[in-house]
Amino acid sequence: MKKNSDVIQKIESLRALLAEYNYQYYVLDAPTVPDSEYDRVFQQLLQLEEAYPQYFSANSPTQRVGGEAIKAFDNMLHVIPMLSIDNVFEAVALHRFARRIAERLHCSDIAYSCEPKLDGLAVSLHYEAGQLVRAGTRGDGAMGEDITHNVRTISEIPLVLRTATPPQHLEIRGEAYMSKAVFNRLNARASQKGQKTFANPRNAAAGSLRQLDPRIMKERCLSFFPYAIAFISEDAPLSNSHYERLLSLKEWGFKINSDSERVLGLDACLKYYEYLLARRSSLAYECDGVVIKVDDIALQTQLGAATRAPRWAVAYKFPAEEALTRLLDIEWQVGRTGTLTPVARLEPVFVGGATISNATLHNSDEMARKDIRIGDVVIVRRAGDVIPEIIGAVLAERAPNTRGVSIPTHCPVCHSPVYKIADEAAIRCMAGLHCAAQRKEAIVHYASRKAMNIEGLGDKLIDQLVIQNILQSPADIYHLDLNTLANLDRMGIKSAENIIRAVEASKKTTFAKFLYALGIREVGEATAKILAQHFQNLETLYTANEEELMALNEIGPVVAAYLHAFFGEVHNKEIIRAIVAAGVHWPQAQKSTVQPLQGQTFVLTGTLETLSREEGKARLEALGAKVSSSVSKKTQGVVVGDAPGSKLDKAHELQVPVLTEKDFLALLKLWE
Ligand code: IVH
Repeated sequence: MKKNSDVIQKIESLRALLAEYNYQYYVLDAPTVPDSEYDRVFQQLLQLEEAYPQYFSANSPTQRVGGEAIKAFDNMLHVIPMLSIDNVFEAVALHRFARRIAERLHCSDIAYSCEPKLDGLAVSLHYEAGQLVRAGTRGDGAMGEDITHNVRTISEIPLVLRTATPPQHLEIRGEAYMSKAVFNRLNARASQKGQKTFANPRNAAAGSLRQLDPRIMKERCLSFFPYAIAFISEDAPLSNSHYERLLSLKEWGFKINSDSERVLGLDACLKYYEYLLARRSSLAYECDGVVIKVDDIALQTQLGAATRAPRWAVAYKFPAEEALTRLLDIEWQVGRTGTLTPVARLEPVFVGGATISNATLHNSDEMARKDIRIGDVVIVRRAGDVIPEIIGAVLAERAPNTRGVSIPTHCPVCHSPVYKIADEAAIRCMAGLHCAAQRKEAIVHYASRKAMNIEGLGDKLIDQLVIQNILQSPADIYHLDLNTLANLDRMGIKSAENIIRAVEASKKTTFAKFLYALGIREVGEATAKILAQHFQNLETLYTANEEELMALNEIGPVVAAYLHAFFGEVHNKEIIRAIVAAGVHWPQAQKSTVQPLQGQTFVLTGTLETLSREEGKARLEALGAKVSSSVSKKTQGVVVGDAPGSKLDKAHELQVPVLTEKDFLALLKLWE
């Protein structure tokens, strides 16, 4: 490649190709090439850029990895001020907002754009002739900080707009945020290394954007959703609807928030609020309310802005999920497997829509790390249906009379010594069923809905029965008599009869539910099902060694060891014998017919059109095959769907047969 124009052309085409791959991956969520192909093109571009440094571009995909650290932040002036939004906390205030608009516009049939209010940081992006030139934080609304170096590392922000006819000037505003998944991963890693954790995704995002070194920022994997076009030059006409404008940004390479909706009238906004609030805990990002905006841009202009916030938008906030209160005491709760969890007793506080007086501190390590003392003012958080937790203490408010929390050396229930297991954050009472707390939890689990499903035999009742020594193991449930039950607190003859009936009805179960009910460590519903399917009865399970257990795809060495230890314990087998003797039974599995693919291993990659990967896997397994996630020489076949990953390359390399979806269906049909 001699001529410079050829080099430029080649460099530009590689940059465009990588930008397109990036777009497919991050914006469309639908990559068309395996990662290895991306890496190959990337390396090719990198080499050319190194050989021809005169063609450097700050917006080349190679610059996304994070360039040089900066010494300090420059200021960035917002010619169009970055306004805030007014908050409302209840429906009446929202009605007031809509009424004011109706009065000003002499019209009440207003279309609104309803959008999740993300809890991140406002960022302004400037594009000139389609190139990202500058990015800044909001600051005080008039003056922010230039964070261009960091913003370039955000994969969901296009460095070059995907259009042949970009506007001369464009200013996009949106929220840079950290997804819950990234936040949890980052904090788990920090906590493992004994480092400081972030209080919430917002703080983590803010801390990342304020890094001087963009390589650190890159590791933080921030995301971005645009929420407004603050300025666009007249050479690129856009829709008059705000909602449609956001949609069209997708074409230009932005990932847009698919949870937004355009609705007509205020009642529909209220419905949207309820809908999003119900989904709040399952959203991929932290969301603290709904932003409601008049959709018509001309009407927005007509309404204008007051000093601080526009008149055409409002944020209807969700109930706060965090609050401050005082820590009164710490108690240690013993769980089913003996772990001691510190539980905080709190001065009651209203948070996330409910009053709470208890919260968890997770484990002793975490408690020590958070340096929390009794008497401290603490931040409690209650998100969705998860157990309320203590985020940390407000050190600035620490009074002189607070007192430290000591880690127990003995079980608070059975008084046997507790142990700290290497590699575990928790401390544990090892007394097993000899410890009343573990006995109780084991029985509660045994009777629970997904296990033996004994209706009416709940936490409180079991507590009484264990304290009075009536229940010592799950097997004793089957010897409960009417008199004993009817004489308990808050029980009458009717409820006692119901319980006896429920115990009787629960005797008919399935092998999988029974295995799950035993409460073996790490054996959840899914693992229990796999075990039941494979071993089919207790005898074969009793005699299985760890190797045989691990031969099942889903069972690793840890679970295998727990299983082996559980069934090796005479006491446990004694309890099982007593339960079965009391009449608990399940249908015996039919002796399985032929397993035509026994001993063969398959790999599935890419998206199949007519069935999900899980289904494909289940059907192969039903025929006796194993499904693995990596291709080796021993693989019998690699089933390839749309957009296969590097596994296809590996199959070619190892000369493993490749099956198309059609081949695969034919194979299944042959044996099913
Ligand atoms: S619109 C002039 N839309 O909330 C109105 N803001 O409290 C500009 N925010 O500074 C903002 N999600 O950082 C808008 N869908 C959304 C938003 C959103 C989060 C943030 C934004 C703003 C703050 C105002």
